[in-house]
Amino acid sequence: MILEAIQYAATALVTPREFRPFIRSSLGLWGRAGRCTKDWAEHENNCHAFIRGTIAPMRERRTAVVLGSGLLRDVPIVELCKTFDTVVLVDLVHLASVRTWITAKRLNNVRLISRDLSGLQDALAGTSPEPLAFLRQVPYLDLVVSANIVSQIGVGCRRVLEQSGHAEPDAIISQLIRAHLDGLAALPCKTALMTDISYEVTDRQGKVIEADDLFCGVPAPRAKQSWDWPVAPLGEIGRDRQAVHRVIAV
Ligand SMILES: C[S@@+](CC[C@H](N)C(=O)[O-])C[C@H]1O[C@@H](n2cnc3c(N)ncnc32)[C@H](O)[C@@H]1O
Repeated sequence: MILEAIQYAATALVTPREFRPFIRSSLGLWGRAGRCTKDWAEHENNCHAFIRGTIAPMRERRTAVVLGSGLLRDVPIVELCKTFDTVVLVDLVHLASVRTWITAKRLNNVRLISRDLSGLQDALAGTSPEPLAFLRQVPYLDLVVSANIVSQIGVGCRRVLEQSGHAEPDAIISQLIRAHLDGLAALPCKTALMTDISYEVTDRQGKVIEADDLFCGVPAPRAKQSWDWPVAPLGEIGRDRQAVHRVIAV
């Protein structure tokens, strides 16, 4: 609790005002990741291996951008920093602990950007969202990694839309997911997309209690690899239930 309070205060100090409301959810991720280290290890290793496989044949390694860099758990950040001239990390929030770790590891070629990658404001204003258009301004861009952010855009925006009583959250969310996928596909550089696309909540006997599509009906791109990620192992969301998400890597 005390650690969390320190982390909150230290992060708030270096986070632009408009992004401070998101610190709590980053702290939630931090807490859960700490509790689920063992259960998440295989998923994180799969993500690292997929990114390594993506960059292995690349000859030009100037700028890499990581979308949804979060806690830097599913990104082989030290390797990216060693092999690229510049690594740009984009997220709503970069926790103080993540910033301190980057400094301690002397990853001097890392740049941090706080940015809303959802495109929600454009969609609500009735204009076509282009949440990745800013990448066109990034010089010498050779790699973009979308690091388990797509479904979270949907989750975060659903919360906002439901709180404001929006009549059709699904229509907006599917528009935003499509905009992210289309934006990535249109980039003139290598990309690696990792995202959970659906989940099942089961009881101890394996009976499905709840299941849903995290892509809100948007067809997922054809996966090169896929695996299960036990996001909430037994005990995390209830004594007798667990949530397992299906992840694809493209
Ligand atoms: C499941 S976590 C990804 C974990 C991260 N890749 C890691 O290695 O620790 C999802 C991340 O997406 C970020 N995120 C969610 N919605 C976002 C948005 N609209 N704009 C930018 N980042 C967002 C969250 O802050 C969080 O860090």
